[in-house]
Amino acid sequence: MSSVHSGGNTGVRNVAQAEILIVEDESVIRSALRRLLERNDYRISEAASVSEAESKYKLADFDLIISDLRLPGAPGTDLIKRAGAVPVLIMTSYASLRSAVDSMRMGAVDYIAKPFDHDDMITAVGRILIERERERERHGVSTEASSTESERAVEGFIGSCGEMVTLFDHLRKIAPTDATVLVQGETGTGKELVARSLHHHSRRVDRPLISVNCAAIPETLIESELFGYEKGAFTGANTNRTGLIEAADGGTLFLDEIGELPVEAQARLLRFIQEGEIRRIGSVESRKVDVRLICATHRDLQQLTVDGKFRQDLYYRINVMRLQLPALRERGKDILELAEYILARRSRELGKEPRHFSPKAIQAITTYTWPGNVRELENAVERALILSEAEEIDNQLLGIDLELVKVSQIRGRKPEPASSPTRVATNYDPPEDLSLEDYFQRFVLEHQDSMSETELAQKLGVSRKCLWERRQRFGIPRKKGGGKRQTGAKRAKTV
Ligand SMILES: Nc1ncnc2c1ncn2[C@@H]1O[C@H](COP(=O)(O)OP(=O)(O)OP(=O)(O)O)[C@@H](O)[C@H]1O
Ligand SMILES: [Mg+2]
Repeated sequence: MSSVHSGGNTGVRNVAQAEILIVEDESVIRSALRRLLERNDYRISEAASVSEAESKYKLADFDLIISDLRLPGAPGTDLIKRAGAVPVLIMTSYASLRSAVDSMRMGAVDYIAKPFDHDDMITAVGRILIERERERERHGVSTEASSTESERAVEGFIGSCGEMVTLFDHLRKIAPTDATVLVQGETGTGKELVARSLHHHSRRVDRPLISVNCAAIPETLIESELFGYEKGAFTGANTNRTGLIEAADGGTLFLDEIGELPVEAQARLLRFIQEGEIRRIGSVESRKVDVRLICATHRDLQQLTVDGKFRQDLYYRINVMRLQLPALRERGKDILELAEYILARRSRELGKEPRHFSPKAIQAITTYTWPGNVRELENAVERALILSEAEEIDNQLLGIDLELVKVSQIRGRKPEPASSPTRVATNYDPPEDLSLEDYFQRFVLEHQDSMSETELAQKLGVSRKCLWERRQRFGIPRKKGGGKRQTGAKRAKTV
């Protein structure tokens, strides 16, 4: 643990020159922390509340913010969202497990209990700064430049977490080319939004974007829909009909759920990709078409090729540039940002006064695992907005169905009866009297044989990296070959 400060980390900047903001209302603690950090060569700024921090400084200029949780006015966790990509380390006045867990789920990079041990604080700060530096290098963000430019590269497309920033960066680079793109991601993660952004940022923007959901068109019709037909090609073909590919000439064709395309249509599509020509059904003539292809799927296409359900040669043709959308639960503080963006937008559209989420609603939003991703979040917010009468939207209105019931089981409590209509995040949060360390260790030990690391991390509301670090810290390393096999963990990003 104490080795985090040691040298030898290639490319890691001297983190000791980092700029750190301390937000703490008790001046004694604030100056003690300042002295401690200054002795370690960090440059320190101070504020006594969230509002003072915001009015005095530009939060994005800091390398790290260390904030007390309980402050006069807004809680320290409010800084998480306001600080954008800057990591926020939360201090809690006693080992309050509930607030520590909540802080982590709301996107705090770590928490530290007060009174803190000096070595623990210095170790945590060093670890966070080194990790931030690595993260920036991984995402190609130079130390000097702010990441905000790439964050905001795609309008109306919310995302500030590392994976989304990288995705936007790739998207901007790929969009102006004619390269075929394969967009992958769980349901509701924004695949169609990616397709629209690619089209929007290409030279084809003034030409049509035609979206075809391969799963929604009956198998018997899909070929004639895509390729068109000549009069008399089959019974019922009374006129010539232009196919959707031809209609997209000069523009972009978005083939959604490409994994559902029947095998015969796959063969035709392959010919179109290889030759840039299509032949209407029943026609002997081919026509040249200039169409940029974007495909999307929530399925594992490679596995489909292994199972003989998807042509391998077609897979290679469409898997030129790949964009992978992370699940919503992996996006940290983006979740709340998205929820607030959706709330503001829908309020405007519905002609309602601006609304805001109650602290409990925020807790529910950041705790729930959102299997339906952004679409499910959108639906929940919209429903709450329609039902709401007050200015504040509470957790009940969101009707979040929680599956954190397992957490209560490991503590020996009886789970809620199955008939209870909705379960809300806060019911299943750990009690204040169990320390976070105990809770982590017990949860990991009891579930590591039945859950994958990804699932464990999800249930604990932390990243996989954080789970790994804690395993090292508590001396419960992952068993070799133990635990459930990882599913869907392969997320190679290709650009
Ligand atoms: N990052 C985001 N920022 C803002 N809105 C988003 C974002 N991601 C998704 N959405 C919104 O969420 C909804 C679902 O997105 P979209 O239809 O693109 O998902 P999808 O991956 O195509 O889903 P499916 O697999 O169900 O077809 C849309 O209304 C979209 O505008
Ligand atoms: Mg879609």
